[in-house]
Amino acid sequence: MAQRFEIPPGVVAVADYEPLAREILSPAAFAYYSGGAADELTVGWNREAFDRVKLRPRVLTDFAGGGTMLTLFGQTFEHPILLAPTAHHGLALPEAEIATVIGAAGGRAGMVVSTEADVTLEEIAQAARTPLWFQLYVQHDRVFTQALVRRAEAAGYGALVVTVDAPIHAFRNREQRAGYVPPKLSEHANLRGLHTRHIAAAELGESLMFRGFLDVTARWDDIARLREWTRLPLILKGIMTPEDAERALALGVDGLIVSNHGGRVLDSVPATLDVLPAIARTVAGRVPVLLDGGIRRGTDVLKALALGASAVLVGRPYLYGLAVAGPAGVAHVLHLLRSEFEIAMVLTGCATLADIGPAVIWNREGGGA
Ligand code: FNR
Ligand code: LAC
Repeated sequence: MAQRFEIPPGVVAVADYEPLAREILSPAAFAYYSGGAADELTVGWNREAFDRVKLRPRVLTDFAGGGTMLTLFGQTFEHPILLAPTAHHGLALPEAEIATVIGAAGGRAGMVVSTEADVTLEEIAQAARTPLWFQLYVQHDRVFTQALVRRAEAAGYGALVVTVDAPIHAFRNREQRAGYVPPKLSEHANLRGLHTRHIAAAELGESLMFRGFLDVTARWDDIARLREWTRLPLILKGIMTPEDAERALALGVDGLIVSNHGGRVLDSVPATLDVLPAIARTVAGRVPVLLDGGIRRGTDVLKALALGASAVLVGRPYLYGLAVAGPAGVAHVLHLLRSEFEIAMVLTGCATLADIGPAVIWNREGGGA
């Protein structure tokens, strides 16, 4: 067991964890962690979008007083890389999210805890030495949902991240082929006692797709209600268009996460990096805009910040680190990304996060984007 918590030799980049995780995880668990919707076009595009962007190196910069510190929603972070909410860390190792949150502290990163964690939000908060946000899936049972919000507040979570892009369980063919079966909602650690109910077919017509599949039922008026329920900063995760960004801001949300759920919901939506500039333009600094999807290098973090993100989140990379080396693996993934990011800042002449802007992106004419 102890051996699993050591960083294997030869792991020098985040990508090195994936093949090792594939060896350790069951085929079904690996399919769940790695897979996306349908043909996984969007999963691939999230990566390709980063690979297409070129950087402009700058020399002889003065880095006195430099650093990567930032403040988000009143909380201070040492660097702009957070752990995205992902479900079921118990598939990686028995300590589940407790191991992850220890690794997050080691990597000096904030962690967003999923509604569908394998350990209760209170147990995770107790083990936390790092800022935590709670990711909320609005449940059919709004009374239960409100109680969940109260629990997150009581446990000291610093923000509420409402995921709005996954109202329906998409077909993930890779999972299906590997025989992955998700646990029932009411069996989740945070959802014990939840009465699940699928919307009656009559309410939705006779569509085969909708009947029995609509898991999460948040609507715009739920966001307005959440705004009234809680004083925690409210962040919507899964915004991909300027229209939805504008509508969210009109309801008084405090932040947005540009995300396509890592390509796990609607296949064929564009890469998050490709939609970021238009959303950042619309938001125009009114609230922080974060991004996730496809971040695998420190240079990816720099590119996202240059194109308008205040911070980024990573998903699969830390799950692979967790499976391979427990908390040490999570911390190592964060350390690698952060170190690469700082190196990229130096080589593009950015002393602080405020210096990172369109000027670090190489446009066709060789100037800044
Ligand atoms: C996720 N994601 C996710 N999002 C969310 O809001 N609640 C959740 O419970 C989960 N669960 C989940 C499980 C697994 C296995 C993965 C890979 C992802 C989406 C996640 O927060 C994030 O948007 C993506 O993972 C980001 O893309 P990358 O970094 O994995 O490419
Ligand atoms: C997923 C859900 C839990 O992506 O959000 O697997």
